[in-house]
Amino acid sequence: MKTLSTHELLENLNRRYATKQFDTTKKVDEIELNAILDSFHLAASSSNIQPWGLVVVENPELRKQLQTHAYGQSQIVDASHLLVLCRRTQVDEAWVDAIIDETVATRGQQPSDLDGLKQMKMGIIGMLGDQLPCRAANQVSIAAWFVLSACASLGVDACPMGGLDPAGFDQVLGLDDKHLATVMAIAVGYRSDSDKYATAPKARLPKEDVIFFE
Ligand SMILES: Cc1cc2nc3c(=O)[nH]c(=O)nc-3n(C[C@H](O)[C@H](O)[C@H](O)COP(=O)(O)O)c2cc1C
Repeated sequence: MKTLSTHELLENLNRRYATKQFDTTKKVDEIELNAILDSFHLAASSSNIQPWGLVVVENPELRKQLQTHAYGQSQIVDASHLLVLCRRTQVDEAWVDAIIDETVATRGQQPSDLDGLKQMKMGIIGMLGDQLPCRAANQVSIAAWFVLSACASLGVDACPMGGLDPAGFDQVLGLDDKHLATVMAIAVGYRSDSDKYATAPKARLPKEDVIFFE
């Protein structure tokens, strides 16, 4: 199996940057978009509860409305696609049952084999109680990193965006009905030649200030 060399990995990660200006003439093609969406779908979550959802927004009218809830940031309308990453607001027994059913189907197990697993998932959900929205949002951030890494590997540019009003996004996209709530957005596409941030060297604290060996 071919894997990336450490050099290629770091090259991809250094090339990646939070894109401020997108080339409005370039679209991410369907194969690459699907691979990016698959990366979200393959993200890790606590006990595989997958407390999230992702909405792909292409519609220019909706994107104009979303821009007003994102401090007017141009990436919202200029990127090829806008991905809105959400936490799930209804993480209950029915949701756990759907995961168990899927596990039974994909792994060819008997439903009774997974009774313990179901109890474990329900136990975690019960234990988290009021913390569930916050924990779900944390996990959406992990899924976001899957998406950003996939983009970096594919040479697709992206901007992770937390500078937005989640309630405004929820309202424009009618997310309540899907039992979703906005956590962040990721604009994906291709950098504009005039984006000066594309060539700005990475500004990071010294490694010894943030990475420790014991
Ligand atoms: C959770 C999160 C929210 C962010 N929100 C925005 C945003 O709203 N707009 C923006 O232009 N960049 C946003 N960024 C990008 C960061 O500013 C950027 O990643 C950081 O300055 C480091 O620069 P680099 O990613 O280009 O290396 C966000 C990044 C993260 C991780």
